[in-house]
Amino acid sequence: MNKAPVLELQQVHKLYQGRPPVHVLKGVDLALFPGELVGIVGVSGSGKSTLLNILGLLDGPTQGRLYIQGRDATGIAGDAAAAMRRRLFGFVFQDACLLPEFTLWENLIIPIHLAGRSPRADELAWARQLLHDLGLGELADRKPSEASGGERQRAALARALVGRPRILLADEPTGSLDEGNSHLLFSLLRESVEEEKVGAVVATHDVELARQYCHRLLSLSGGKLAGS
Ligand SMILES: Nc1ncnc2c1ncn2[C@@H]1O[C@H](COP(=O)(O)OP(=O)(O)O)[C@@H](O)[C@H]1O
Ligand SMILES: [Mg+2]
Repeated sequence: MNKAPVLELQQVHKLYQGRPPVHVLKGVDLALFPGELVGIVGVSGSGKSTLLNILGLLDGPTQGRLYIQGRDATGIAGDAAAAMRRRLFGFVFQDACLLPEFTLWENLIIPIHLAGRSPRADELAWARQLLHDLGLGELADRKPSEASGGERQRAALARALVGRPRILLADEPTGSLDEGNSHLLFSLLRESVEEEKVGAVVATHDVELARQYCHRLLSLSGGKLAGS
């Protein structure tokens, strides 16, 4: 893989305070490069979501460092983190998290409006292209409730890509899909990653699926990340 990492973790620990405290991550190193889809597999409770939350600036590490595009982003939080998320990140969650009162098309465009401006012509064209490429061309005017689970998850992927993110994070994106739709989503995910040269991390408990579609597979166990 060429170039510098878009995202890097060095010796990251996460300790959830509580009774008892939970030491979920115990020294995690990770370097994510543009154009690669990295799969993180691990049983439920192994810390996959914790790790993705740290990668996506939704939570901070207890110890260790986080670099985004080569810059130290370890302590970044609040508005600065939100701005960086909007500028560089796309997220796909297990349940598409689309806004139910808006159409699929509107769901794609809303993030641009949330950034406080109107979409440009090239952004509208890109959003239309994404819907088409992800097989949703005919469904633009449907509400999420009028789409299937697979279609909703593809819309969530389209929404994550609309802002041309450099980093894409997906947490169990096929967790509520059947086998056929899971394969379709993973293959579209891989295609998008390669075409857009985005660095992507997908957490999943489905080892077979991850093995088939990810460029690199890592396994999270005992708080450590290892090649798998
Ligand atoms: N906010 C939190 N406070 C305390 N413990 C948490 C919190 N979030 C997750 N945990 C614990 O951390 C462990 C890892 O959780 P999680 O990252 O969600 O794992 P996974 O996504 O692999 O299922 C679990 O034992 C979970 O109960
Ligand atoms: Mg999880």
